[in-house]
Amino acid sequence: MSKLWGGRFSRQIDELVHHFNESLTFDRRLYDEDINGSVAWARGLVGAGVLTADEAETIVAGLEQVRDEFDSGTFVYEPADEDIHSAVERRLTELIGPVGGKLHTGRSRNDQVATDFRLWVMRACDELDGHLQQLQQALVGSAEAHLHVPLPGYTHLQHAQPITWGHWALSHFWPLARDRERLGQARGRTAVSPLGAAALAGCAFPIDRDGLAQALGFEGITPNSLDAVSDRDFVADFLYVAAMIGLHMSRISEQLILYSTAEFRFVRIDDGYSTGSSIMPQKKNADTLELTRGKSGRLLGNLAGMLATLKGLPSTYDKDLQEDKEPVFDAFDTLCVVLPVMAGLIDTLTINPQHMAVQLESGLLATDLADYLAKKGMPFREAHGVVGRIVRLAEERGVEITALSLGDLQQVNPTFQADVVSVLDVKASLASRAVPGGTAPEALAAQLQAAKEACGFNAA
Ligand code: ARG
Repeated sequence: MSKLWGGRFSRQIDELVHHFNESLTFDRRLYDEDINGSVAWARGLVGAGVLTADEAETIVAGLEQVRDEFDSGTFVYEPADEDIHSAVERRLTELIGPVGGKLHTGRSRNDQVATDFRLWVMRACDELDGHLQQLQQALVGSAEAHLHVPLPGYTHLQHAQPITWGHWALSHFWPLARDRERLGQARGRTAVSPLGAAALAGCAFPIDRDGLAQALGFEGITPNSLDAVSDRDFVADFLYVAAMIGLHMSRISEQLILYSTAEFRFVRIDDGYSTGSSIMPQKKNADTLELTRGKSGRLLGNLAGMLATLKGLPSTYDKDLQEDKEPVFDAFDTLCVVLPVMAGLIDTLTINPQHMAVQLESGLLATDLADYLAKKGMPFREAHGVVGRIVRLAEERGVEITALSLGDLQQVNPTFQADVVSVLDVKASLASRAVPGGTAPEALAAQLQAAKEACGFNAA
């Protein structure tokens, strides 16, 4: 096997070691970025006085031919190809002859791989942002369709206070807004060009690093060549964002699984997003959501694994760094399925207001009763205690608190008046929480509007 670096070796690489060492199996996904980087580098070498303009254009034309081969699936890999960088260069030289061998002047695979991978991650951030936006739009659609439909809100998974479906759906919208913000920040830190760092000490030819960065769509250049070839913070950033997205998907999943059970029946998952059981004919399983919840584990694992790989590496490039790609590809591929599937599931979700209403027992209004006393001047702590005794009384009688008479309430505390009936009502409870972010109709309308703007909902 002839290798890029074969000159100083007297014996060929062991077959098993070659397979252990190679990264082509997975880094072939970087071919487009690798060719873009090489096109820019060839042109940069003209400015540095290394290549004539003609030589550069021969190289660029050859690279475009290699790109066509990849695009059309006709590129033939050779057993000796070690990674995408060596495969592209090998093929280029086959196509255009020895001048192809000038392309690597002043460059190392160390700055080359960092450049390619950063370009790839930048594109991945843009693509994931689009998927997140679509899911946001699905959530906004669901929120708008059932904005004021009441259901129990839970803390500790116990009945707490009435909320609405719109409020609930939007509660899963804003985490995605933060994820998109995080993606943008990760992209910004990724968009820094290491090209020109060479192996570690910097390029020995007067290459215009800023011009190269600009040509490739970077926003700036790395300030230190040693750091440039060893920095994989952008990988950890990306994997962290992916893990957070996975975590958010897992939480929506868990809640919808619960809400779709026979015990809740708040929602019905569309048949297109469910599966059956091979033995129990009645079953409809929320596999899609369970798998989404499960996949959050691998997204977390990708981050943890990468951090472990990076910890303790001496600068600058170490082969350990080749381990950076698979977790990123895996995280990206996972989310490129998880996010559209979740968007489709939300788009087709049926909600059951009548089953939600069944669960709206009056215990959920206990806080409203305490607020009523507080509004009459009673210190809230005392009001809390009074209502606690009312709840106990209702429990002892085996009835809801709404079934107690005014006389019963007054026996516990004389502050209660006839107007108390107006607060023992779900609608009134919802309407009273009118602060921004609250569950009252006007507050929700404003929140929905803000969410629509944040995700370009219905934008032409
Ligand atoms: N395949 C390598 C990687 O993915 C490319 C860089 C190799 N550099 C080197 N000095 N061996 O990291």
